[in-house]
Amino acid sequence: MLREASLNAIIDAVKLIGEGKLVSFPTETVYGLGANALDGKAVAQIFEAKGRPSFNPLIVHVAELDMAKEFAVFNEAAMNIAAKFWPGPLTLILPKTKDCPISDLCTAGLDTIAIRVPAHPVAQDLLRRAELPIAAPSANKSGEPSPTAPVHVQQSLGDKVDLILAGGKCTVGLESTVLDLSGDKPLILRPGAITLEHISSILPDVESYEVRASEEDAPKSPGQLVKHYAPNRPVRLNAVDIEEGEALLAFGSIRFMGIRSGGAASNLPDTQIRNLSESGDLHEAAANLFAFLRELDREEHSRIAVMNIPDKGIGLAINDRLSRAAAANSK
Ligand code: TXA
Ligand code: MG
Repeated sequence: MLREASLNAIIDAVKLIGEGKLVSFPTETVYGLGANALDGKAVAQIFEAKGRPSFNPLIVHVAELDMAKEFAVFNEAAMNIAAKFWPGPLTLILPKTKDCPISDLCTAGLDTIAIRVPAHPVAQDLLRRAELPIAAPSANKSGEPSPTAPVHVQQSLGDKVDLILAGGKCTVGLESTVLDLSGDKPLILRPGAITLEHISSILPDVESYEVRASEEDAPKSPGQLVKHYAPNRPVRLNAVDIEEGEALLAFGSIRFMGIRSGGAASNLPDTQIRNLSESGDLHEAAANLFAFLRELDREEHSRIAVMNIPDKGIGLAINDRLSRAAAANSK
């Protein structure tokens, strides 16, 4: 059931989480599919609803740093990062505490935990009232683009989720940055809105981890399989013009975009074109990315052609998701 995230709906959501049920809730990044992280049976239902391989561990969401410390060991670097970026779109990989009560299914039996304090007011309210850690992957079937609006959750998971708390569109629109602080060197396992530049202001030795196709069997961040974020239509990157039948995912001005068989992209019918940001704003583009991929993912389109997105700031995270979408259908 989909309900506006009123106080009453949030109170009902807290009850459902306590009973081991599934609740989808908004975060500033994407919608999450939440369950009590202490309850293995509840967590198992997340995997079932998503059709997700169970070796893939989930992010634990908590209301604040104090609660995170019950489950994860924070060294000085982790404390500094948390102080600067939480609440916000950043997940930390840290060693688990000695008697960490989080379900092993949630951490996939690893001795590290992925933990995050989301900033979205509905997520905050839910977590504070539940007084529980909530395990939540993105609220989509495995292999689909992450949901950035409540209707995406309903389309993807429908009645598999006991309650969808509707809280509008996600402002960031890309999944959180995943920063691994459990090893010798800080490593960004998944790029996001908190960029390498942001993190290096506090941890100058931070590096990005590139997942290569050859590592697909044993990726460092298990969810970072190359084939991950994928619409059904094939995706063609760095398009400078479009072929007959292709849909166009534009960025910036399309004044010079032509159709190979003749004509201008600006004359395409509304169903065949979306512009991530006419003004070339990368944050606006990130927020629109998954919704627009879904909207262009129609059977009558042979492919989705995507214009070049600058590889800087959050553009790196956009290109990370797009290259996965392109890789998924090229094999
Ligand atoms: O923005 C987000 O992070 C959203 C919202 C709902 O919070 N959640 C999300 O969760 O994207 P999910 O499950 O789709 O992605 C979690 C990522 C995966 O790539 C997973 O492999 C990685 O975090 N991960 C989880 N635990 C890990 C661990 N102990 N070590 C390394 N990577 C881990
Ligand atoms: Mg996901």
